[in-house]
Amino acid sequence: MSTTLAPLTGKSKSPVKIRQTRMLIDGKWINSTSGRTFETINPATGQVIANVAEGESVDVDKAVKAARKAFEAGPWRKMSARERGRLLYKLADLIEENKDELAALETLDNGKPLADSLSADLPLAIDCYRYYGGWADKIEGKTIPITGPYFCYTRHEPIGVVGQIIPWNFPLLMQAWKWGPALAAGCTVVLKPAEQTPLSALRVGELAMEAGIPQGVINIVPGFGETAGAAIAEHMDIDKVAFTGSTEVGKLIMQAAGRSNLKRISLELGGKSPNIIFADSDLDQAVDGSHLGLFLNQGQCCCAGSRLFVERKVHDEFVDRMMKKVKNTKVGDPFDPKTTQGPQISQEQFDKVMSYIKAGQNEGASMLTGGSRVGRQGYFIEPTVFTDVKDEMKIAREEIFGPVMSIIPFKDVDEVIQRGNRTMYGLAAAVWTRDISKAHRLAAELKAGTVWVNCYDVFDAAAPFGGYKMSGIGRELGEYALRNYTEVKTVTIQI
Ligand code: NAI
Ligand code: MG
Repeated sequence: MSTTLAPLTGKSKSPVKIRQTRMLIDGKWINSTSGRTFETINPATGQVIANVAEGESVDVDKAVKAARKAFEAGPWRKMSARERGRLLYKLADLIEENKDELAALETLDNGKPLADSLSADLPLAIDCYRYYGGWADKIEGKTIPITGPYFCYTRHEPIGVVGQIIPWNFPLLMQAWKWGPALAAGCTVVLKPAEQTPLSALRVGELAMEAGIPQGVINIVPGFGETAGAAIAEHMDIDKVAFTGSTEVGKLIMQAAGRSNLKRISLELGGKSPNIIFADSDLDQAVDGSHLGLFLNQGQCCCAGSRLFVERKVHDEFVDRMMKKVKNTKVGDPFDPKTTQGPQISQEQFDKVMSYIKAGQNEGASMLTGGSRVGRQGYFIEPTVFTDVKDEMKIAREEIFGPVMSIIPFKDVDEVIQRGNRTMYGLAAAVWTRDISKAHRLAAELKAGTVWVNCYDVFDAAAPFGGYKMSGIGRELGEYALRNYTEVKTVTIQI
């Protein structure tokens, strides 16, 4: 176990301990085969936090072998399902016991405000492990009355070795969404965290070992997408891959699965979610919820309400109130308790977001506030608000993944349903109205995996989440996610 002390920025007194920077294969913490490492950067300063083992194809191969051995030999699959659940509860307890450390680690590596890590990421991740701990012994088949002298039933069996590739925006939580259902179902896992944020995954790996999850059941291979990630997608002995990230890479994963062994895939990809404010809504509530829906996590949310449709009658009033709220943003050191917005994750994402801000200006949208970098170090961007945004503009069509709000006026219900659905994405949508019939009508007609009414970003481990259209394939969370990790076997017995 390597212990590095990473200095924090700003006011925090005790530095965050970096306990683990190696990869986890077959229950052992090891260096990469090549001996190479990569740097993980503190996005608030641009400085290196730690050097992490860089996994590549050969390391993925070792991890898959360990996961295969653990799957077939069956310390996990053959264990009593209730005992599997108990180990997931134990992992949740250990994460909870170490939540301050994990929240600080997440904030250091990702840049999100510590207050958010503590109040959202950690409790949601802990709850997710507990929720799926509860499912472990409740994964049941059916008895089916077929014609003839037969007894027919189904078994929902673990799918096998699963590869899981996760992004950097919610590292701990994405690991929980992936590990929870996979482990409950009895699968074994090879996880690749994002190269920008490998640290919290490795620490949770240590806690999983401490909880007593048998060796080989979970393996963690940090590394880059084009090497370690691609090796997972191509691997002939991985039965299923679960991916969260860009639509562009989602397509590559699907192609790789098609080229190799037809491994099952589930994809959770990009979005350009319509957030629709009607004149008959509680406007203060709508402003607060829409602010959260766009600016949460520095705008780096796949379900960000990035097309904010406001009914013309209340447009100006809404914009005034939103501007007051945006002016209260405190951009800065994520460890400062007063901070409400931290840095973007990387130079690459910073440049991408800034280029969209430029595109918005060039295409004639009105920038009411923001648009500039904050400070001289780190990847901080002012919260930015555009009005006079047209559906055809780049900022209204493409995923920006940053603190950039586009406000778009609309006239009536039929029009906004049509315009709301005019996108290649379909991850989420929201509707703000006091008219219950209107709310139900939109909930039915919007083509999105989640529709929030008079709220935004309400997540629960029990509620499925995923996309229509190019926002993905399959659903995570809830009972639905168990389908990603089980095969259905039909058994027919003559009687
Ligand atoms: P990305 O899709 O490249 O990265 C996500 C994960 O996929 C990382 O673990 C990465 O290492 C891996 N990966 C990259 N290329 C791969 C490949 N060829 N084969 C297998 N795995 C691969 O996303 P990136 O580049 O970090 O961000 C680009 C854009 O993607 C963002 O600006 C945003 O629009 C979107 N995005 C969406 C996320 C979501 O939650 N749906 C999360 C992160 C990014
Ligand atoms: Mg990429």
